[in-house]
Amino acid sequence: MQSTRNKLIELLAKNQHEYISGQELSEQLQVSRSAVWKHMKQLEKDGYRIEGVSNKGYRILTFPQKISENTLQWGLDTKWIGKSIIHRQITSSTQDVAHQAAIDGAPHGTVIIADEQTSGKGRMQRQWFSAANKGIWMSILLRPQIPLQTSPQLTLLCGTVLAATFEKELNVRPFIKWPNDILINEKKVAGILTEMQAEQDRIQYVVVGIGINVNQEKKDFPEEIAQKASSLKMETGTSLDLHKMIQEILKRFEKMYDQYMQAGFAFVKALWEGFGFKIGKDIIVRTMNNERKTAFLGIAEDGALLVKNDQGEKEKLYAGEIEWFKKGGVMHAW
Ligand code: BTN
Repeated sequence: MQSTRNKLIELLAKNQHEYISGQELSEQLQVSRSAVWKHMKQLEKDGYRIEGVSNKGYRILTFPQKISENTLQWGLDTKWIGKSIIHRQITSSTQDVAHQAAIDGAPHGTVIIADEQTSGKGRMQRQWFSAANKGIWMSILLRPQIPLQTSPQLTLLCGTVLAATFEKELNVRPFIKWPNDILINEKKVAGILTEMQAEQDRIQYVVVGIGINVNQEKKDFPEEIAQKASSLKMETGTSLDLHKMIQEILKRFEKMYDQYMQAGFAFVKALWEGFGFKIGKDIIVRTMNNERKTAFLGIAEDGALLVKNDQGEKEKLYAGEIEWFKKGGVMHAW
């Protein structure tokens, strides 16, 4: 059920260029005029600038820069994603909040977002730096009805969504470094951490964690990652509106997810490969007991990396270390 407050924002937002009278608001919201006035005061406290003119009514002048459930939902014309949003100014990790929400019965498509994370988690037990208001730190709760072994496809789908959004909205050429690092100009700007709860071979829920460095400058990154990490601002030269970027991602995510559920993985795979870093080029693969140069062909249906083996046949790789960059600037996928 939409709250009165959300409905009020929606009404004001729809009529941004004209005044809407207190009487009309009270009728549409089915609350008293003094209740409307109290909600207005609360919105102002949350950073909305509202103009009230006697005999005319109210209109929103500007929306807050601060993220909240309301500001994120305003204008988000999706069917199921972000219909429920949990926003925290500060939390340990949105992944943890998402797991708890899932256990408590939160619906498919719930979005958990924080301004700051104190223990942001990356893949392989790495730390994910999540400075306050500098980036997008969010988790999406999904309850997909797909076979357990196809779950890596969701991570690849998410990587494709991010790359497509950056390409369209920022006019840059992003690449996805298998399995799911988003690179611009060979620097990592975003990463994805997918966690899942399953029972036997049935998925109970999946939490897709998305970390995007948006408005950091070089000095904002800790020394140990400053060489290989970057932000959208550093790569485009402009500060970006977090709200807009989040909404664009959620809209594309919903669209691609629905299409994937209907049509299967083939089109996601094709799009992913269009963004694939080093596809068709040689990469160096290190496993426990050997090291070899091999051609990176693409990805398989189960999300594995496809390379050409010594006999010229296709081979799937799930683990091992991949050397993506020339020595001196080495990054590992695993
Ligand atoms: C990686 O590239 O290693 C994955 C990084 C994922 C970071 C995001 S930020 C939101 C969500 N909460 C976390 O603690 N991690 C993910």
